[in-house]
Amino acid sequence: MRAILLGPPGAGKGTLAEQLVKHYPIVHVSTGDLFRYNIKNQTELGLKAKSYMDKGELVPDSLTCDMLKDKLQTLDKDQGFLLDGFPRNVYQADVLEDILKELGVELDLVINVKLDDEIIIERLEGRRVCTTTGTIYHIKYKKPKVEGISDETGLPLVQRPDDTREVIEKRLKIYHEQTAPLVEYYQAKGKIFDVDNSGTADEAFAKVKARLDS
Ligand code: AP5
Repeated sequence: MRAILLGPPGAGKGTLAEQLVKHYPIVHVSTGDLFRYNIKNQTELGLKAKSYMDKGELVPDSLTCDMLKDKLQTLDKDQGFLLDGFPRNVYQADVLEDILKELGVELDLVINVKLDDEIIIERLEGRRVCTTTGTIYHIKYKKPKVEGISDETGLPLVQRPDDTREVIEKRLKIYHEQTAPLVEYYQAKGKIFDVDNSGTADEAFAKVKARLDS
């Protein structure tokens, strides 16, 4: 399966991806995670990306598309993947078409995760992450066994620098202006599967699983 997870920031794309990769032989390719890996390792790309990400802006298309292409080229042709956070505008979607054509593979599905802005703000303000494993927690909805501590590593969980209210609002504005038009873009191709994530994370996963298994 080759799929895209589309949806606003904080809609639950990463959480859904964590569950999907446990059930299906697919690789999770998150452009946000790739940028954060580069920031942590202080690469040139990371240094460039950080200034945009901290402000809640999109990293320029040229940097993002090259990074994504490099990553997809490392995968075996038969390897399924789940793109999370890419594409984020129509230009990136067109670039993705070209990359997939070059690789000789086709996109199967676009999972469109839907959630209202007010719920998104609450979920993102309460999100905590393990910077070593990337595991996603929430102070109310997905608590670690010990408050503030990663279950896997025993190290403190952190709040992402872009999870402040001001930056979340900017990210949402950019989503509505630049990314939301992709819903129509993929609807026209008959690839969209809508998932409401206002219930629990397990409920959202069950809906996607039912679709994938059908
Ligand atoms: P990225 O890392 O992709 O962030 P995002 O798209 O803003 O999405 P998030 O990771 O914030 O949210 P999510 O939907 O994964 O939600 P999560 O599962 O964590 O991008 C970051 C930045 O990188 C961008 O702003 C940009 O600067 C740059 N970038 C990345 N890709 C780019 C591109 N293609 N072009 C240009 N720039 C790019 O869930 C959120 C919280 O909710 C968690 O705490 C979770 O535990 C909780 N939760 C999830 N589901 C539920 C549920 N059902 N009930 C209760 N709580 C839930």
